[in-house]
Amino acid sequence: MAKACNVALIGQGFMGRTHSNAFLKVSKFFKGLPLDPVMHTSFGMKQENPKVFAKHWGWRNYSDDWKAVVRSRDIDYVDIVTPNFMHMPVAMEAIRAGKPVGTEKPLAGTLKDAKKMVDAAKKAKAKTFVWYNYRRCPAVSLAHQLVKDGKIGRIFHVRCIYLQDWGGPDTPLLWRFQKKLAGSGAHGDLNAHIIDMARFVTGDEITEISGAIAETFIKERTIPSVGAAGGIAGGSKGSRKKGKVDVDDAVLFLARFKKGAVASFECSRLAMGYQNQNGIEVHGEKGSLRFRFEDMNYLEYLDYTANPKTRGWTKIMCTSAAGGHPYVEAWWPDAHILGYEHTFVNQAADIMRVLAGKKPVVPIPDFADAYETQRVLEAALVAAAKRRVVKMSEVK
Ligand SMILES: NC(=O)c1ccc[n+]([C@@H]2O[C@H](COP(=O)([O-])OP(=O)(O)OC[C@H]3O[C@@H](n4cnc5c(N)ncnc54)[C@H](O)[C@@H]3O)[C@@H](O)[C@H]2O)c1
Repeated sequence: MAKACNVALIGQGFMGRTHSNAFLKVSKFFKGLPLDPVMHTSFGMKQENPKVFAKHWGWRNYSDDWKAVVRSRDIDYVDIVTPNFMHMPVAMEAIRAGKPVGTEKPLAGTLKDAKKMVDAAKKAKAKTFVWYNYRRCPAVSLAHQLVKDGKIGRIFHVRCIYLQDWGGPDTPLLWRFQKKLAGSGAHGDLNAHIIDMARFVTGDEITEISGAIAETFIKERTIPSVGAAGGIAGGSKGSRKKGKVDVDDAVLFLARFKKGAVASFECSRLAMGYQNQNGIEVHGEKGSLRFRFEDMNYLEYLDYTANPKTRGWTKIMCTSAAGGHPYVEAWWPDAHILGYEHTFVNQAADIMRVLAGKKPVVPIPDFADAYETQRVLEAALVAAAKRRVVKMSEVK
């Protein structure tokens, strides 16, 4: 029988729900996991009424004191789903308490915070995880495997996008629009995912950034009536007061990889018409890959070694357990379609495996790995501010 792993969830917002759902479902779908997550305690802020969330999602206990939760001897794994500025203090507390810890992306709001987390984890030899969940879309995991198996050969060109549409100027001044709480805007939110995806799929590292542009189009927004930091969407009912936006709405940049590939990255919260379109294209000497999240069950593959007479893009539906598509054997029969939430359940399964000393289906970023993504985020912002090429060796 699987050993119990008492989980503490720190945060009760959007990601609080995706992670709760993941811990709730994972042992039901993934048979034979070495650890069985027990939804022990959920932290939420007093004003959110943490009891309501805990009861709804099946957490046994609730608290509005995150330090006490993290320090509790009953907790085996700490899971952080707060705004970015809190990732560092909560993770440091968990590491000090000798606990394994996972956090939502990006690793931290700032490179300085991220470095503290990496150093502390290394010193304590702590097991750490960062929830770059899109790695665990079966189609993205398959892309990683195909590159690793040599199907694409030498990579020439990588194109990455993450485009969203946040409804223009009417969206209130949430924590996501404030540097001290978020670190950056669309960049840390969206580019973080596609930088991780590009590193994961190519198995390569970025060496240089150029041509970076960061822009804030909407420079002030209405202050929400219910605490902007609180992750409560709130809305602007009754309040006309405006506050300054000091993060980007869109960031674009070019990059070079160690093995010679060139890449483009673009993210925006104001790409009207795209709701959650993240994607990657990889073009190499033997073939190409194409993935778009809004069509997440598919990976497109072009075998460039095939006879040109019949050569063309193959649209692979990545739902075949018999075909060995990653994670699918835990889910439904072929073509019974997976969604966003499955990526989180897949990650929860891999976290339970790694905590028990087993291998994940595909690699999970730990703090040190996610720090490389954070360095690229930083380099792109420096490149945009200074309007020059930035070598990754300049960013420690
Ligand atoms: N992987 C993904 O697809 C994805 C999507 C959205 C967000 N995220 C990441 O998840 C994290 C949380 O984002 P979210 O969308 O769930 O945010 P959210 O605003 O919906 O919820 C954040 C929660 O954190 C807690 N919190 C907020 N401010 C706090 C404070 N000052 N003190 C103590 N607790 C506080 C509250 O419980 C709040 O509900 C962020 O790091 C974000 O980048 C990841």
